[in-house]
Amino acid sequence: MENEQKKFYVTTPIFYVNDKPHIGSAYPAIAADVLARLHRQLGEEVFFQTGTDEHGAKIEAAAKKAGKAPKEFADTVAAQFSLAFDQLGIAPDKFIRTTDPEHEAAVEIFLHQLKASGKIYEGEYEGLYCVGHEAYIKESELVNGLCPDHKTKPEKLKEKNWFFKLSDYQKQLVELIDSDQLEIRPFSRKNEVLSFIKQGLEDIAISRPNVKWGIPIPWDKNQTVYVWVEALFNYCSGVGFGSDPENFAKFWPADLHIVGKDIIKFHCIIWPALLLAIGLDTPKRVFAHGFFTINGEKMSKSLDNAIDPNDWVAKYGSEAVRYFMLREIPFGADGDVSEEKLKARFNGDLANGLGNLFSRTTNMIEKYLDGHIEEFVASPKDLSAASDAFYNSDFAGGLIRIWEEIAWANQLIDKAKPWELVKEHPDKVKELLLNLAALLYDIALKLAPVLPETAQKIKAVLESGDIKKPEPLFQKIE
Ligand code: MSP
Repeated sequence: MENEQKKFYVTTPIFYVNDKPHIGSAYPAIAADVLARLHRQLGEEVFFQTGTDEHGAKIEAAAKKAGKAPKEFADTVAAQFSLAFDQLGIAPDKFIRTTDPEHEAAVEIFLHQLKASGKIYEGEYEGLYCVGHEAYIKESELVNGLCPDHKTKPEKLKEKNWFFKLSDYQKQLVELIDSDQLEIRPFSRKNEVLSFIKQGLEDIAISRPNVKWGIPIPWDKNQTVYVWVEALFNYCSGVGFGSDPENFAKFWPADLHIVGKDIIKFHCIIWPALLLAIGLDTPKRVFAHGFFTINGEKMSKSLDNAIDPNDWVAKYGSEAVRYFMLREIPFGADGDVSEEKLKARFNGDLANGLGNLFSRTTNMIEKYLDGHIEEFVASPKDLSAASDAFYNSDFAGGLIRIWEEIAWANQLIDKAKPWELVKEHPDKVKELLLNLAALLYDIALKLAPVLPETAQKIKAVLESGDIKKPEPLFQKIE
């Protein structure tokens, strides 16, 4: 065990393909990408999975509205997600689609195992179904008869379904979560889930008789599997359940599921119970982040206030968008976003802060040391606290620490006034510049998971050993 390389399997939710991505949907993917890069930097074997959730009534309806067949429609939107992620520098090891034949085959095996567990029975359910949520909604949750999130009227359904005995798992789930064998973070979410479970769990329907666009229930072809049950299983099918046992054994259980706070019950109650039923380990950690809001209202496709990440990337670059999203709002909290705020971070933190430190340092190295810094050595500052913060998904905290160092270094230059000092003490200026180069190098290493391209630019310039007019990192936007 001791010599075994550590592994890290991180996932995002898979995204509904009813509409193109917005910056809220890119958020968990950026966070997961940063963690994947960080764990890779630490020498771990990493698997980062994201993808698209393509079956069910919601997608069927969106395709119909667009005048397309569901698969054709899903192909187009899945490609938009994949491209938008790519342009944000998000580099998953696997982009899974629930219409992938491997996933469909794995779900079939999973359903057989579930049936064999004895936890499946046939029954009838009557309730209000919100297609936007792809879930039943309680009468008490409605506002003026509408779903408060989607502002739509739920459908009254009375159906014959296959049920899963979720209620059997109440005690086991409380134990798992209480003991942190399944860590739910932030702690407030852990408490929320625990108190929900303690109120008592009801069994859930795992099939839908009237939804054609889905994976058939193997023993009852008139029904398709409930889209959430199928979607959750992507976390197993994507790493090789049913197709690549070796890879599956290596990466399962997932080390971290990053999810939005709206879908924690699916991930912290239904998902672990399904895994327990088929005898698989439960995930180690679920981290729930908050929502991006626009003027206080959740950004969403259905509310028509969504910002297209491609627009921001085209204007500010992928690095600035990544930085902004992780720096502006503590991971776990809600927060308002706007282009004004992005621009302020761009000009303030990136152009004036990091960009300025880089330009001043490299310009002076060119001017006073003839561009030569062969002798610069390890950093005088310890920034490991920043990496620790990232490691614990405290992205804003880690970035704040790094920017404290940047501010400190910029002040050091202001105080030392190398342009005056150089007349009498060129040796002191040399020492200062070597220290600044070392600090910048260290900052680049620490920043690499969040700003991979910028970190690479800084490292390449400093490592070249002969600095000649490097390009500025960020051009201020007026
Ligand atoms: N398909 C399901 C997830 C299945 S996972 C097995 C789903 N899809 S979704 O496209 O509606 O949402 C995907 C993720 O994006 C969710 O975690 C959700 O919280 C997140 N976000 C959607 N809008 C968001 C914001 N405005 N802000 C932050 N995250 C948001 O749910």
